[in-house]
Formats: sequence, structure tokens, C-alpha cells
Amino acid sequence: MTIQPASLRIAILGSGKGSNAQCIIEAVASGSLDAQVACVLSDVEHAGILDRARRHGIPAEYVSAAPYRTKLAGDAERAYVDALKRYGANVVCLAGFMRIIKHGLLSAFPDRVLNIHPALLPAFPGLDSWKQALAYGAKVTGCTVHFVDAGTDTGPVIVQRAVPVHDDDTPDSLHARIQVEEHKAYPEALRLLAADRLRLEGRRVRVLPAP
Ligand code: GAR
Repeated sequence: MTIQPASLRIAILGSGKGSNAQCIIEAVASGSLDAQVACVLSDVEHAGILDRARRHGIPAEYVSAAPYRTKLAGDAERAYVDALKRYGANVVCLAGFMRIIKHGLLSAFPDRVLNIHPALLPAFPGLDSWKQALAYGAKVTGCTVHFVDAGTDTGPVIVQRAVPVHDDDTPDSLHARIQVEEHKAYPEALRLLAADRLRLEGRRVRVLPAP
């Protein structure tokens, strides 16, 4: 007997404009990603990501992460876990959520928290990675979708996509080129998860062939 994995109920957490959230929502709406978007949560009250979700009829909530500035911890972490459970989410996608995720949320969703990072990890972790790539003089950068672990941008890599850095790039032009690839990478990673084709082996993610 084959045990079918539960279908994905995705919660998206973001702090900004929400272009990655939009791509995930569109992939679900078009049928190219077999999943549901259960909710969108933001730690920024008027973030664009909440408007985008509401325009698609998806439950969208501002959940304060105060009093911390850069992490999700304590009462705020509990409020997020409560909201995620309330919406029946079984996978959590960080999409421009600008906080460090701690044990409480990770242990509530083991191996089910994903993040998108605007660089080819392990290069340029942390903030403003496209600016870091420019300042370093990298000729190639890109984006990474990875499982989130207890470190900062250190979890097992699921999908990476590369982009060239051009001599005349500005931070904005480079970030825009990276985002084009992000918008392919996140749905691609979620399609693999939805099809139960990802196997974690240590810190390596093995992708099973399509049936
Ligand atoms: C994306 O480029 C994402 O990779 C980045 O924030 C942007 C959010 O854009 N995340 C990080 O830098 C996390 N360290 P979006 O709101 O349009 O999806």
C-alpha cells in the first residue's frame, strides 16, 4: 500500500512587497503547483504581501513580532505558531521574512520550513546579498531555496538558480535579475515537495526522479 503524503497547505511569511508570494499563489491558481495557500502572515502591518494575498482571497494577517527587531521569539513566536496551526498550514514558506526563525517554530514544523535567499548559498548569507555580491566583485550569483535550520541561511539546499553579474549592474538591476529566477525557483522547490520527491540525507537533499 502506498501512503500518500498529506497535500501541501502552504503558509507564506513575508515582510515586504511579496513578489515571491505572488508567484506561489499564481502557481497554485494555475494548477501547476498541487497545493493550497492556507494563509499569508506578515510582521509588517502594511506590507504589500498582505494586499497581494487579500486580492486573491487568501487569509492575510499582520502578526506583531514585537518587541524583537531581528528575530521571531517568545510570545511573538507562539502567536505565529498559533496562527499557522489555526489556518491548518503544514508547510511554512519564508519569502522575504526578515527575521531569524527559532526553535519553537522549527520544532512545530520539522523539515517543513523553507526559505528563499537572494544568493547562491553558502555565499553571501544575511542581508542585502545582491549588494554583497556586487561589492565582492562576484561574476555569478543567484538564488537558493533551502530548508531552514537553526543557523542563518545554513539549511539544506533544495534548488539553486544562477544569474550573471554584469559590469554595469546596480544593486537594483542585479536584484531584479535574481528575482526573475526566484520566481521560478520557489514554485519548482514546492512542486518537488508536493510530489514527495525530496529526501533529506544529512545536509544533502536528494531529488527523486519523476515517476
Ligand atoms: C527576495 O529577494 C528574497 O530572496 C529576499 O527578500 C526578497 C523579498 O522579495 N530575502 C532575503 O533577503 C532574506 N534574507 P519579495 O517580497 O518580492 O518576495
